Amino acid sequence: MASILLGVTGGIAAYKACEVLRLFDKAGHRVRVVMTRMATEFVGPLTFETLSKGAVLTDAQPLGENGSILHIDYADQADIFVIAPCTANVIAKLAQGMADDALSTTALAFTGPVLIAPAMNVNMWNSASVRENLDILRTRGVHVVEPSSGDLACGWVGEGRLAEPAEVVSAALKVLDPYKDLARLRVLVSAGPTQEKIDPVRYIANRSSGKMGYALAEAARDRGASVTLVSGPVALSKPDGVSVVNVESATQMKRAMEEALDNADVVIMSAAVADYRVETAAEHKIKKGRETMQISLVRNDDILAALGQSKRADQVLIGFAAETHDVVAYGQDKLKRKKADLFVANDVSRPDIGFSSDENEVHLLFADGRVVKIDKAPKRRIADAILDAAKELHRLNAAAKLSA
Ligand code: CTP
Repeated sequence: MASILLGVTGGIAAYKACEVLRLFDKAGHRVRVVMTRMATEFVGPLTFETLSKGAVLTDAQPLGENGSILHIDYADQADIFVIAPCTANVIAKLAQGMADDALSTTALAFTGPVLIAPAMNVNMWNSASVRENLDILRTRGVHVVEPSSGDLACGWVGEGRLAEPAEVVSAALKVLDPYKDLARLRVLVSAGPTQEKIDPVRYIANRSSGKMGYALAEAARDRGASVTLVSGPVALSKPDGVSVVNVESATQMKRAMEEALDNADVVIMSAAVADYRVETAAEHKIKKGRETMQISLVRNDDILAALGQSKRADQVLIGFAAETHDVVAYGQDKLKRKKADLFVANDVSRPDIGFSSDENEVHLLFADGRVVKIDKAPKRRIADAILDAAKELHRLNAAAKLSA
């Protein structure tokens, strides 16, 4: 997860900055917003406050909670400063190092990468002053997402229209590319429920949506890992750039995980595996007849425990504990029994987190006894916290193996 500082300046395209913010948020990044006075005339700060779930820095609001100086806080905490749309006036101010309002002051205080997406009238865009100012900024390493061509709000046709929000966001994420901290890691993730067949049209399953496992796979991919996702039946679309193995039953999932184990550095069992399967699935659809019926179930193998037995010392094994009470205690017990390096324990009795929800709140339970609470956050952010722990554990396991 990166921390994005989004600067919004006063042009008609200011409303498109809402979509830029939304796309960053959807990709799991934290966004803080700073606006010029003119920008607030186009879109109210409340819109950005609501979308970013945080205070918006404007000329009218220089101080944050506890009297902190917001422009310094925001500048210090950001990984990238994205200004979209960026007016000719702000381009000039950035080029000259002026600091006469909240946005330009923040820009001066910011030491990381800056990306601007200009939007203006075609003649302004082609003017010598804008060209020269942009040259100055480019020489200083500022990234520029060029405007596109088309009908402009001012009535002219030509270059000057703000680039598409998706283009701005992907350019910014590319700038952050060096943060591909998992580039050498191979991550194997299981996700979703399993389906245990009763007859050709019926099965036993559970409420797992697969969202947590898919978020893990996508976050690992975005951080540069090569990812294999073993997925039970879910309603989610296949993530790009991830090798997906689709399975239905726990038996199939076990086989797929065992086959992929050798080529993995980190293995995450986030799937909700059925503990039992139907002893003998009927070949034909079962017809109703008697008032009551019984289905005989037999235990499935525990996939995580089996992986715990056969894994190499340098491999990191992570399990999930879905509990309705005594979350940490049950999780710690499972961690020991299944010989995992880390357990992610969550409370599935809470309707606001867990199954089907987009958010989660978990405890990370380490084999050395450490318990780290990760506050309620989108699953993508929880995924990043789990991957941070996995990276650290892999470094430790690999070092221990070398010195053994
Ligand atoms: N798990 C597994 N194979 C199974 C059952 C569970 O690999 N047959 C894994 C899950 O993917 C999860 C962890 O074990 O990572 C814990 O699953 P959970 O169902 O919470 O634990 P159980 O050991 O099945 O305990 P119980 O259902 O009794 O709480």
